[in-house]
Amino acid sequence: METHTAGTLLEVTELRTGYLGVEVLHGIELVVRPGETVCVLGANGAGKTTLLHAIMCRQPAWSGNIRLRGVELGGAPPFAPAHLGLSYVPEGRGVLASLTVRENLELGAYPPRARARLNDNLERVLALFPPLKPRLGEPAANLSGGQQQMLVIGRALMAAPELILLDEPSLGLSPAVTGQVYSALAQLKSSGQAILLVEQNVSMALKLGDRAYVMEQGRIVVSGGRERVLADPRLRNAYLGL
Ligand SMILES: Nc1ncnc2c1ncn2[C@@H]1O[C@H](COP(=O)(O)OP(=O)(O)OP(=O)(O)O)[C@@H](O)[C@H]1O
Ligand SMILES: [Mg+2]
Repeated sequence: METHTAGTLLEVTELRTGYLGVEVLHGIELVVRPGETVCVLGANGAGKTTLLHAIMCRQPAWSGNIRLRGVELGGAPPFAPAHLGLSYVPEGRGVLASLTVRENLELGAYPPRARARLNDNLERVLALFPPLKPRLGEPAANLSGGQQQMLVIGRALMAAPELILLDEPSLGLSPAVTGQVYSALAQLKSSGQAILLVEQNVSMALKLGDRAYVMEQGRIVVSGGRERVLADPRLRNAYLGL
């Protein structure tokens, strides 16, 4: 409990993992402080999703540490992160299509820490994503792609997370809908919610983010404040795969 750096919410140190014996993350170091929005940027295959999966205990860490307020998550079962206050919005949505919008949202409130606050959290989510409100009784399958993205973010927020992790929330959305999703994220941020945001949409992500890490082939190659990262030629190189 005491070994973590004071003031950090999530602290990843020297994280290594991979698939079938092939290492994909080569010693990742990353920190998120309370209330911060932190971006992880990088090209296809850089290892962004693998990093989020490791943090969420969906992918075993081979070595290194993942600590949430000093509590070690490495080796914990997959339900542990949600119980401790992490919520994950996976790449490619994943609403439960045959359940109603309300049922999808209620499912997000399963961690014991969230159940007592279900009604308050539901109101908060509907205020953040007004298009969901008139659709509560409809099957989630009826929603547009953008509304489904709002629903999965809403479902993650129903767990009352200390930190929400989002994997490419703009993927497959029109610029207009991406704008809606990002303005909701900006509202969330200003309410004090800590956010860890994985994106290929660099300009949207950096408008929102306080800081960013740029990943290239399983390594962090640049990190720092928005301006510094934007000015670093390695950001462009990471995307061009040079
Ligand atoms: N289940 C898996 N089995 C084997 N290799 C995998 C698996 N998932 C990912 N990889 C490999 O690990 C590396 C990192 O993939 P990952 O999905 O983490 O990248 P990413 O940055 O999220 O990419 P994208 O932007 O395409 O989502 C890639 O080389 C990928 O091929
Ligand atoms: Mg990915």
